[in-house]
Amino acid sequence: MKKQTALVTGAYRGLGLETAKQLAEKGYSVVLTGRNTEKGKLAAQKMQSQNLDVHFHFMDVNNLGSIETVKDFIEKKFGKLDVLVNNAGIHYDQGHKATKPNWKIISEATNTNFLGAWKVVATLLELIQKSEHGRIVNVSSGAGSLQDMTPGTPAYSASKAAMNVLTIQLASELKQEGILVNSVCPGWVRTDMGGGAAPRSVEEGASGIVWAATLEDDGPTGGFFRDGKEIKW
Ligand SMILES: NC(=O)c1ccc[n+]([C@@H]2O[C@H](COP(=O)([O-])OP(=O)(O)OC[C@H]3O[C@@H](n4cnc5c(N)ncnc54)[C@H](OP(=O)(O)O)[C@@H]3O)[C@@H](O)[C@H]2O)c1
Repeated sequence: MKKQTALVTGAYRGLGLETAKQLAEKGYSVVLTGRNTEKGKLAAQKMQSQNLDVHFHFMDVNNLGSIETVKDFIEKKFGKLDVLVNNAGIHYDQGHKATKPNWKIISEATNTNFLGAWKVVATLLELIQKSEHGRIVNVSSGAGSLQDMTPGTPAYSASKAAMNVLTIQLASELKQEGILVNSVCPGWVRTDMGGGAAPRSVEEGASGIVWAATLEDDGPTGGFFRDGKEIKW
């Protein structure tokens, strides 16, 4: 089989970095993207020194032009995209209240966590359609589950619930083409966002993301998973 290519957004630290590493270790050519070129290049170089096929490219998911530039890069270098991991995320607005809305935080969370992911999919879809095994993973959160969310993170929860809507809509539109689209919650993970008290390592959190990114052709689509097991919407 021709070597497969994967792109991870927001990937020079945290879960994105570990997801990029695990995919590269599985033999994927990985395009590690992020909005800090210096840190992104360093992260990619470190993995290249371990003989992993990782390429950094600048991408701010809120900047359509930067997504289009990455599309051109992938088209020229690889011709197609097999796996897209929408990992970039911000603003776990713990302690905030829906009754006292902070519009700046709400709008930034919506733009990055929801609209950003949508822009990346829409721009790269043509390349994913060229793959015979297209996979899209939206890195969501239990905080975005309508049935399971707890109060206290209104902007973040709303943005991740909206991301889950995107998963369901995309999955049904792309099912006939064999492109599998799923939401994954990595659990509570020790990263800059998750904090040091979180019970899970990045390796544990990323493994559920990589599971959804590497599903067999008869794997599920339009689902919400943690550790490969279905969770409530
Ligand atoms: N950690 C947890 O417990 C947990 C639980 C459930 C879900 N998640 C989800 O998992 C994903 C990764 O989170 P994490 O814990 O690894 O957080 P993190 O360490 O804070 O990393 C977030 C990443 O997203 C990037 N990012 C933010 N805005 C961006 C933009 N506009 N364009 C491109 N990249 C952008 C950040 O880059 P900059 O340095 O440029 O900001 C960073 O690389 C997120 O979607 C998060 O919501 C995390």
